[in-house]
Amino acid sequence: MNDKNEESIDFGYQKVARSQKKSLVADVFQSVAAKYDVMNDLMSFGIHRLWKRYTIDCSGVRRGMKVLDIAGGTGDLTAQFSRRVGAEGEVVLADINDAMLKVGRDKLRDSGVIGNVRYVQADAEELPFDDNTFDVITIAFGLRNVTDKDKALRSMLRVLKPGGRVLILEFSKPVSATLNQVYDFYSFNILPKMGQVVANDSDSYQYLAESIRMHPDQETLKSMMSTAGYEKVDYQNMTGGVVALHRGYKF
Ligand SMILES: C[S@@+](CC[C@H](N)C(=O)[O-])C[C@H]1O[C@@H](n2cnc3c(N)ncnc32)[C@H](O)[C@@H]1O
Repeated sequence: MNDKNEESIDFGYQKVARSQKKSLVADVFQSVAAKYDVMNDLMSFGIHRLWKRYTIDCSGVRRGMKVLDIAGGTGDLTAQFSRRVGAEGEVVLADINDAMLKVGRDKLRDSGVIGNVRYVQADAEELPFDDNTFDVITIAFGLRNVTDKDKALRSMLRVLKPGGRVLILEFSKPVSATLNQVYDFYSFNILPKMGQVVANDSDSYQYLAESIRMHPDQETLKSMMSTAGYEKVDYQNMTGGVVALHRGYKF
């Protein structure tokens, strides 16, 4: 084990060895995969669908494009991209976790998504694609879970085509103190109980609440993207900053 792996890193509010985080995150998504979609609708009152639709609208995706949906999980964004790029385009649904990928693949096939989707098990930190491959890359509610976020940002930039854009949809910091209080109460008192009842797993939803609080806020993520080499980086808050959509380009 090298020195970097010996360092400690956040896993929610816990400090764990850097080398342990991937397998702890894998356990979370292995555990929640089967109930992931139903929990998303319940926890967000269906609003995650609007956040995702807005992300697609901001992607500038067109027919014939090549799209990477990394940490794509059960494929909500992939399904919409697949329709937009058409038969002459391609969408790669990539995720580190085979259980999430399997749920995504089964769901997309059942819903008649056309054959322009490829499924790849991959780590955002070390994307197994050639340089300059994709017109659009999305990572939705995924970056928070990645061990080395700077490495993942650089890896995404490497496989993005010049002129392409990366969109990062992620929980962020609510802009109002009142909303923050309500959101804290909901996250720490209601979410884990909901997780227990629906998915028989309160720990994973406790991790969700904690990992959101530990994730870089809007301005910090913006500066991380600029440091990684993205151009024209900006973001938009949604639902009062509960979620933010960051966008950056490669020129
Ligand atoms: C909260 S889910 C988001 C799924 C989907 N993008 C959505 O918005 O519904 C987070 C996903 O990130 C994946 N993930 C975590 N770490 C990753 C990594 N290093 N590389 C790729 N995917 C990762 C998990 O397996 C999980 O499927």
